[in-house]
Amino acid sequence: MRKPIRKAILPVAGLGTRFLPATKAVPKEMLPVVDRPVVQHVVDEALAAGIEHIVFVTGRNKAVIEDHFDRQFELERTLQERGKQKLLEELGDDTPKPGTTSFTRQQLPLGLGHAVWCARDIIADEPFALLLPDMLHFTPEGQGCLSDMVEAYEETGGNVVSVYEVPDDQVHQYGIVGVEPRPGKAQAITSMVEKPRREDAPSNLAISGRYILQPTIFDLLARQDPGAGGEIQLTDAMLKLNERERFFSVTFEGRVYDCGSKIGFLMANAAYALSRPDIEPQYRTELAALLAQD
Ligand code: UTP
Repeated sequence: MRKPIRKAILPVAGLGTRFLPATKAVPKEMLPVVDRPVVQHVVDEALAAGIEHIVFVTGRNKAVIEDHFDRQFELERTLQERGKQKLLEELGDDTPKPGTTSFTRQQLPLGLGHAVWCARDIIADEPFALLLPDMLHFTPEGQGCLSDMVEAYEETGGNVVSVYEVPDDQVHQYGIVGVEPRPGKAQAITSMVEKPRREDAPSNLAISGRYILQPTIFDLLARQDPGAGGEIQLTDAMLKLNERERFFSVTFEGRVYDCGSKIGFLMANAAYALSRPDIEPQYRTELAALLAQD
């Protein structure tokens, strides 16, 4: 019997320099996509996949994320007094149940690998999910990306990453995997390479920011030297783990938006707005009028 995936790490300690000055005082994970912070969309995806406990790795200036996932008594009372029952219920639904979140600090932003390592004591000896909270995986219909991965993991075990197809002339911007077909939902990963040249890329399948990892990664992260950009890179530790453990990929068929980049964030807002029945008609009309003016 495989150990179930009960816990997920959401690293939110990065500086968000690509989004300055917006991210000077507001974490990029709190920027709204329509009316929900980016990080809330990712928490929704994790909960839909059956995750029971979310570990946020936070940093300085990120306290507002902890507040967002807490109750707000004054607000609740005011909504109650004003008879805004529906809003009150929606807020309640979005608030995690007591004891189902943990917050730990990455005191210095030393890289994604280091942020993951900071959660080691809370995760302990269990396989876990890792979701990069600035990467939105948009599926207007059907189940979310992590749900698909959990289903695949139940069959394969090992480590599972989500991948998506990127244009050949963009492979140099991503972590790319080489894969071998196998029966079932997942493919077997045969190679992983960080930001390859187009001619060296084993495929055009880019790692999309969703992982299911075995806890053996923590020992490797503890010994991992800084890599690209002087940061402790998760990919470097995954490459070492790949020498002794199996890795599988699940291809995500929806759209991936990098909300840490300005264009990715703006496109995510457009896609989510167009998928919302309460917003779509007016938004579409006004957007079309705006585009027609150009
Ligand atoms: P990014 O590299 O996209 O985030 O990391 P960043 O460093 O904040 O962004 P830029 O490049 O300066 O704009 C992916 C995720 O990993 C987290 C980030 O918060 C983000 O959600 N991260 C990154 C950490 O938690 N700690 C780190 O040291 C680095």
